[in-house]
Amino acid sequence: MHSSQRDFHRVVAIDGPAASGKSSVARALARRLGFVYVNSGAIYRAITWYLLNKDIHTDDTQRVAQALQSAAITCRIQDSESRILVNEIDPEDHLRDDRVNESVAHVSRLLLVRQIVGQKLHEYARSHDVVVEGRDIGSVVFPETPHKFYVDASREVRLRRRAAQGERDAITLRDQADLSRSVSPLVTAKDAYVIDTSHLTIEKVVCEILVRLKEMGLQT
Ligand code: C5P
Repeated sequence: MHSSQRDFHRVVAIDGPAASGKSSVARALARRLGFVYVNSGAIYRAITWYLLNKDIHTDDTQRVAQALQSAAITCRIQDSESRILVNEIDPEDHLRDDRVNESVAHVSRLLLVRQIVGQKLHEYARSHDVVVEGRDIGSVVFPETPHKFYVDASREVRLRRRAAQGERDAITLRDQADLSRSVSPLVTAKDAYVIDTSHLTIEKVVCEILVRLKEMGLQT
């Protein structure tokens, strides 16, 4: 076991591509387990929002680094869910803006950004049992947790789901960027339990995960 694992509470990792249903599943699962729901994508989105507001081009790694070094990124918990503040401002209402959707995959490929988010996720897990959703949670951020799930759905279903949410979000482009980046790309952790949600309700997926967690001996 990795030494840092000893500091962590229980971690359930839910990874998957955009619009795979992982947010709804992770949130519902966290409620059922009584764990804190942590949305790692929201931290990448909050950082992207902050950089865009400061007019910093995401390719300008030097300015990105300077801006992030001077920013206070605070991760707290509200109603058992993660909440991000940047310089004491809560950008929640802007996290799914078109411009954030367009830029977040550029920002998330930067090593410095990934290190910051990784540290924040570790902080959550040091103080609480957590269900964490993202792209690299089981593979990189919490490789030691035995509770890893990879939630997927067909491309058609994912496109339909995002359109139904009324969002302009080029998920195919984002997925390509997330799959092909050199640092922590989206991968299925080798010990992850894979669920195709294309034809399943959220409740069914949550039940399947709960059964699996019980089999693994996770006590709630
Ligand atoms: O989960 P969500 O779609 O909100 O994530 C937004 C973006 O944040 C992803 O497309 C990806 O670029 C980045 N992300 C990541 N690693 C994570 C979570 C999100 O790179 N663990």
